[in-house]
Amino acid sequence: MAATGLFLISFLIVHVSINACIFANDGGVTFNSAAHFMATNPVIRIVEIGLFAGLLLHIYQALVLTLKNQKARPIAYAQVNGSANSSWYSRSMGILGSLLLLFLIVHLAHFWVDTKIAVFSGKADEHNTFNEMTAVFKHWYIVLIYIIGVASLLYHLLHGFQSAFQSLGLNHKKYTPLIKKTGIWFSVIVCALFAAMPITMFLGIIK
Ligand code: HEM
Repeated sequence: MAATGLFLISFLIVHVSINACIFANDGGVTFNSAAHFMATNPVIRIVEIGLFAGLLLHIYQALVLTLKNQKARPIAYAQVNGSANSSWYSRSMGILGSLLLLFLIVHLAHFWVDTKIAVFSGKADEHNTFNEMTAVFKHWYIVLIYIIGVASLLYHLLHGFQSAFQSLGLNHKKYTPLIKKTGIWFSVIVCALFAAMPITMFLGIIK
């Protein structure tokens, strides 16, 4: 789970960086050229297959791990006081991950499917992802779905980032606090940038 999680984190860095091109506020010129490169470059297309395989593997591993945990303790504890030594979000990774998956299905239906249709029908050059984004983010309820999706991502990452390092055995008196701090900053910055995209487009700040 740690390896696939870190792989998905690396995707988020690329995704948020490309999308942040919308903040150039140049009518989508910079963003569209970056998006066009990502949609048509053959190497990126191969990496994309790895991305979806990594996502499915991460979900599969989560299910296997949950079942193993349940098997290891078939009789529930009489009393549970989880908040004594763990955060609510570290105990809710399954729910947060499922919310994220629901968000991803809506998200891919919004953008990814259209891009794929354009690429496979030879119309990638005419496809304007920026215009598509401004049209999608005109609706407040879609912006709300995105904010809920990004909030799920925030809490999923807040635990997942540092947990991945711990699972890989990187537990060290000196470095663990640094990894934890980096994880918090990383999660907050990435999610704030993602959330700012639908919000600024809805408000007409980015157009
Ligand atoms: C909230 C702001 C976000 C915006 C505005 C946004 C925008 C986009 C756009 C425009 C595409 C289509 C790219 C293309 O193929 O032309 C895309 C693809 C994608 N997005 Fe997002 N995204 C956001 C957040 C997220 C988050 C939080 C995740 C994951 C947790 C995510 C996962 C994906 C995936 C998996 C793809 C498909 C990548 C591929 O083409 O292989 N996105 N996004």
